[in-house]
Amino acid sequence: MSVRIVEVGPRDGLQNEPVPIPTQAKADFVRALAASGLREIEVSSFVSPKAVPQLADASDLFGSLSEWRRSEGTGVKLSALVPNQKGLERALQAGVDRIAVFTAASDEFARRNIGMDVEGSIAAFREVVSEFRQAVPSGWVRGYVSTAFECPYEGRIDPARTAEVAAKLLEIGVDEVSVGDTIGVAAPAEVRKLTRALLAAIPRERLAYHFHDTRGTAIANVAAAMDMGIQAFDSSAAGLGGCPFAPGAGGNLATEDLVYFLERSGIPTGISLESLAKASLPILEILGRAPAAKAQAAALASSSPTR
Ligand code: COA
Ligand code: ZN
Repeated sequence: MSVRIVEVGPRDGLQNEPVPIPTQAKADFVRALAASGLREIEVSSFVSPKAVPQLADASDLFGSLSEWRRSEGTGVKLSALVPNQKGLERALQAGVDRIAVFTAASDEFARRNIGMDVEGSIAAFREVVSEFRQAVPSGWVRGYVSTAFECPYEGRIDPARTAEVAAKLLEIGVDEVSVGDTIGVAAPAEVRKLTRALLAAIPRERLAYHFHDTRGTAIANVAAAMDMGIQAFDSSAAGLGGCPFAPGAGGNLATEDLVYFLERSGIPTGISLESLAKASLPILEILGRAPAAKAQAAALASSSPTR
């Protein structure tokens, strides 16, 4: 069995951080993540700078990575979020060949996040995806479904609803759907239930899960999904990222925890846990934070010369 890891730290991990992070530090972060062995990295978002000030430098960031991409970074797939036509134009200008559109399973979350209800967003993304395909025939598109288990405004979500939105995204031409536990509430039994509903609506190889570890259930959820054949998971180095609707709560599933779990389960990832654990240190320093991910802290402790 093999598992794909989609590193979302530079985007999901940083998007809610109020401390401005210099573009060069973000570029170094992306390169360090790639050097640790990660092969798919979500770099930024071409969204409104008013909505997400931290990612306002998306174009500059792709610019500073372009030289590296042409040389040693060629084996690494970089992607970015695109919410609308304007975002698509900016992404194309920056030479982006992998985009992600994003909606939700609940209308209220979608309205607050992207200013459209779910149906409206699907209609808008149909245009965005089709234009992107024309501009970049070899390109790749991901579609996110946020609040797949529960919405902070609408409460629990019927698995059939999430499956319906996932199927609609495939219908408008995305290559993969990433189904997100945005507020990090799900437990394995719910993952099994939702996975059954999803697999009745979309092919297994088009499904990825995006767990947040807000309540410590993310790895258990990965295990449950893997038991049902899911082979793609999003995670964020150092567990960076949090949801603005759950202040103080833990962030994304940490890539270090995921890599440790996979390797220890006999599934090779090609990632050096030791380099990965160090990749986020300069960013954590800028944010004034200590390494919080468990497998990261353990890897750093065992690689430290003083121990
Ligand atoms: N990139 C840069 N600027 C953009 C933009 C984009 N993709 N889309 C819109 N804008 C600008 C417009 O030019 C306009 O600027 P102005 O006020 O200077 O004239 C302003 O934003 C408002 O544009 P409008 O089309 O009315 O958008 P909106 O205010 O309804 O916002 C989104 C809609 C989708 C652009 C915005 O909600 C957004 O960027 N959301 C992303 C949220 C996000 O990333 N969440 C995390 C991921 S889960
Ligand atoms: Zn997320």
